[in-house]
This record gives sequence, structure tokens and C-alpha cells, in this order.
Amino acid sequence: MLQIHDLAKRYGENTVFSQVSLALRAGEFVALVGESGVGKSTLLNCIAGLDRADAGRIMLAGTDLATLDDDGCALLRRERVGFVFQAFHVLPHLPVAENVALPLWLAGHGRGAGIERAEAALAAVGLHGFGARWPAELSGGQLQRVAIARAVVHGPQLILADEPTGNLDPGTAGVVLEVLRRQVREAGATCLLVTHSAAAAALADRTLRLTPAGIVAGGA
Ligand SMILES: Nc1ncnc2c1ncn2[C@@H]1O[C@H](COP(=O)(O)OP(=O)(O)O)[C@@H](O)[C@H]1O
Ligand SMILES: [Mg+2]
Repeated sequence: MLQIHDLAKRYGENTVFSQVSLALRAGEFVALVGESGVGKSTLLNCIAGLDRADAGRIMLAGTDLATLDDDGCALLRRERVGFVFQAFHVLPHLPVAENVALPLWLAGHGRGAGIERAEAALAAVGLHGFGARWPAELSGGQLQRVAIARAVVHGPQLILADEPTGNLDPGTAGVVLEVLRRQVREAGATCLLVTHSAAAAALADRTLRLTPAGIVAGGA
């Protein structure tokens, strides 16, 4: 469902990575590890169409991203991709349910229907009844579960998670990873999980390592 062929990315003179190739099948849960600064976040941003590669090809759900303009990328992302970030990125001025409903509203769903699906997604991550709360009232682990609910609420085919447990203690991280894995499985989605944690990588179907010379198979 995701194929990357010989991808390269530079910032000015500085080559971040080159010759990155990988293929993820539908339903796979794959961990991506690699040294800090090797370009893991950059790669995720390229896959999500938030950043452009300098060479190579990304095929997402049968579409070559190079054939899309920025609006086309935004549409593909909105419909097919869910993103979970290390820093949660839950909006502080919106109640929890509205944070989760946001991707649905952006896709044109009605207000009430969006809230209803958001409440169901919150219940699925163990946050039943939290919809009316404010983000400031929640713990880090709860906020990351809100972010997972938001990432899956629109039924994306691909979930990209960039060190989603990086700000959590190991116990909370374990709970959050289990929630992420279950949600990905139940949604029938594919997940690419960037992680520094061996425990997180151990949950995955397989682990890939990003190096400056490309992707190699390998553990954390
Ligand atoms: N917008 C940018 N402009 C210039 N350099 C950048 C930019 N974003 C990332 N980089 C550089 O690209 C490299 C890879 O960064 P990143 O993808 O964040 O690595 P990782 O997520 O693996 O730690 C780093 O050297 C970083 O400094
Ligand atoms: Mg990063």
C-alpha cells in the first residue's frame, strides 16, 4: 500500500538520505529506527506529502505523489493518512472531542456526526466520557490516546507515528503502544512507527533501520 523507490532528500548542500526504498503491505505494523538526525521525521513528512523529496518515487495507495500538486497532496493526506506526533499536537483551546472530530469536519462531515464518531473513537482508546474535557486536564498518556483517536477517526489506510511515546514514561508508553497497535489492526490500516524504544520495535511485525545510505532490515 506504500512503495518508496530510491528516495533522496537534501537541504541545500546537505544530503539527509539517498537511495531509500521500502514497501509496506496493507495491514503491516512496521517500526522504523535510526540514529537521531538521520532523517526519520523528514521521511515521514515526505510520505505524508508535507515535504517534497529531491529524487525517487513514493506510491501511496496506488498514487504517485509526484503527480499531485500541494492541494492534491493535502486531499490524499486528509483521506488516507493519520499522523501521531511525539508532542501530541492536541489543540489546547478545543475540547477533547472537537480535537478528535477535526479531521472529519475538514473532510466535510457535519458537526454532530463528527462529534458522534469522535466519542466512539475516544471510547475505543479507553477515554469514554472524556469528550467534553479540556486537554489541559489530561495526562500525557491520555493526550497521546486522544491523538491516536484523532489519527484513526477518519479510517485512514496509513498511520504515520513519529516517536509517539518519546514524551512518556515506560509504563504509560506501553499502554499507548498497545492502544495504537489495536487501533491500527481494527482499522485494517498500515502503520509506520518511528521509535527509539526497543520495546516499541518489539511490538512491530518487522523493523527497518534508516541509514544515510538507505534502509536496511534490522532491530533497534
Ligand atoms: N527544514 C529543514 N531545513 C534544513 N534542515 C533540516 C530541516 N528539517 C530537518 N533538517 C535536517 O535534516 C536532518 C534530518 O532531520 P530529521 O528528519 O528531523 O531526523 P530524525 O527524525 O531522524 O532525528 C537533520 O540533520 C536536520 O537538521
Ligand atoms: Mg525525528
